[in-house]
Amino acid sequence: MSDATSIKSIMSENRKFPPPPAFAAAAHIKSLDEYEAQYRRSIEDPDGFWAEVASDFHFFRKWDRVLEWNLPDAKWFVGGQTNVSYNCLDLQIERGRGDHTAILWEGEPCDATGKPTEIRRLTYRQLLDEVCRFANVLRNLGVGKGDRVTLYMPMIPELAVAMLACARIGAPHSVIFGGFTAQAIADRVIDAQSKVVVTCDGGWRRGQIVPLKANVDEATKLTDLIKTVVVFKRCGNDVAMKSGRDVWWHDLMRDVSHECRAEPLDSEHMLYLLYTSGSTGKPKGIQHTTAGYMVFTAYSAKLIFDLRPDDVFWCSADIGWVTGHSYVVYGILQNGVTTVMYEGAPNHPAWDRFWRIIERHRVTKFYTAPTAIRAFMKQGRQFPDACNLSSLKLLGTVGEPINPEAWMWYHEVIGRKSCPIVDTWWQTETGGILITPLPGVTATKPGSATRPFFGVEAAIMSKDGTVQPANSGGYLAIRKPWPAMLRGVYGDRPRYERQYWSEIPGVYFTGDSARRDEDGYFWIMGRVDDVIKVAGHRLGTAEIESALVSHPRVAEAAVVGFPDELTGEAIAAFVTLRTGNAADDGVKGELMTHVAKQIGAIARPKQIRFTESLPKTRSGKIMRRLLRELATKGSVEGDTTTLEDFSVIARLREDEA
Ligand code: WT7
Repeated sequence: MSDATSIKSIMSENRKFPPPPAFAAAAHIKSLDEYEAQYRRSIEDPDGFWAEVASDFHFFRKWDRVLEWNLPDAKWFVGGQTNVSYNCLDLQIERGRGDHTAILWEGEPCDATGKPTEIRRLTYRQLLDEVCRFANVLRNLGVGKGDRVTLYMPMIPELAVAMLACARIGAPHSVIFGGFTAQAIADRVIDAQSKVVVTCDGGWRRGQIVPLKANVDEATKLTDLIKTVVVFKRCGNDVAMKSGRDVWWHDLMRDVSHECRAEPLDSEHMLYLLYTSGSTGKPKGIQHTTAGYMVFTAYSAKLIFDLRPDDVFWCSADIGWVTGHSYVVYGILQNGVTTVMYEGAPNHPAWDRFWRIIERHRVTKFYTAPTAIRAFMKQGRQFPDACNLSSLKLLGTVGEPINPEAWMWYHEVIGRKSCPIVDTWWQTETGGILITPLPGVTATKPGSATRPFFGVEAAIMSKDGTVQPANSGGYLAIRKPWPAMLRGVYGDRPRYERQYWSEIPGVYFTGDSARRDEDGYFWIMGRVDDVIKVAGHRLGTAEIESALVSHPRVAEAAVVGFPDELTGEAIAAFVTLRTGNAADDGVKGELMTHVAKQIGAIARPKQIRFTESLPKTRSGKIMRRLLRELATKGSVEGDTTTLEDFSVIARLREDEA
């Protein structure tokens, strides 16, 4: 990890965009003064602040204490009992939203004229009915409170149904992104010790069927933990059903009761596990719990997206990532609005698909990733220009820093210069948005996530915990617990302490470098560890490397990220082959396919370079920093004093020439 003093910030962006006055006038938070006053209160009196926020939610039993903080363990709303599924559904119905559309879904397939052939709307009442039935199905399968259930599904309403059903009975879910394949599924199932998997025969993606059930079948060859596979019929493709293990969703749903009372759960009961990549080792199961996550996601969604009863909110993220958990499902449904789900690819049948969805359903707030915006930019503005986007009132981004050029395009072409943009910084671990503009308040600067949300004490620090002066780079840290923070890494307490609470003693370490400018705005500069962000998705070096090494021709491998115009970062792999294997393009292709097959297409290296040996420290650690420099700049200028064998770098350079 590089030293804080060597983190230099090179961006200087001076444009400033105040919120549109009409937007500000009607917003939940209307003025900078209001933000400042509430922010101050949230920091000085967090207990009072969050108690007031939480009083809007349904608790079966009220909490005794708002926060119990024993570093690094936070407990929120201690002694309280609630249920997230109840707050997403029953409470909304009690509030008169029963007949309002909760989920508005479009499948990918289209007819010859480009119209989608499947659109489904589920009201809050209908969604509750489905959720209760599936909760009963899970119970009938023997799933009890605390049992982990794996959900490996495409973006269809049943994924949300399954999540909410799990939440209803207190069975933590572990959603695995539908783009991952067998090895990734097996690793996560084993880590979570999950016996039940819910999947589909397939899902549509770019006109093709993703063979989800077949991938689960492959995974069952790698672990014998899986006792039951529930299969929802989505595409009608042929699947093998193993008797005694595989069961059809629709068969199980037929005879169950439509009623299922939400289980009162302790505030700190585990709501879900979500696996994410770190710099080393296997993916970590990030643990989120019930009440704090519930309150924070709902409240942050309400203020940051300025949600109104008639909003049609579309977050285009896959539910397989945390963005989908918090701002497709939990945070949005708790506000009683309509959440849009789209099954497929942004370019199917053509590059106007997203804009057509916005036009068709009069989407009011749209939340997406910079990598998607860059892809749309590349295709040209004729696609959005041909659509009526006048329903849009607010735009958001998440996942990686947005380059000012893409920000301006989003602002002008999609927002027609009249929508505030919220550039939201957060992580799988933070559960919800921590640094962000408030749309009626903050004058935005393209490329900055601006200022901390309520209750969030963010700081730029050096390794020893010294707060850095304005405009000098350092590590982004969070100094106080917040309600939606992770509660642990599943089954790995040391990793939780080491990764998040030891790098800078006493504060939460984000793994990001950043600076804070003279206005107190945060500018995220990137990761300081070996995490690679491809299209906004976090991939760990170790998982990709072990996929490479599992190929019979490979002796050793190291992967690093390098800048890519479209995906932000792409993967470069440095590979040492076993003797007797020719280093040619055929092998390169073979290895790329192998990684995609093992983990998923998102992990496919864009570049593979063969090398006789990898640069290592004397203790044998691969110096990815040097490889990163080589992949990025084509040369190594950084410090090589800890390198064991200097000639390795020279030879790598020659290989490139
Ligand atoms: C990492 C977390 C949180 C949902 C999606 C990603 C980067 C995230 C921003 C932003 C600059 C950002 C950080 C962070 N990141 N949002 N607005 N500006 N960088 O979740 O996969 O857990 O990744 O994404 O590097 O640490 P994740």
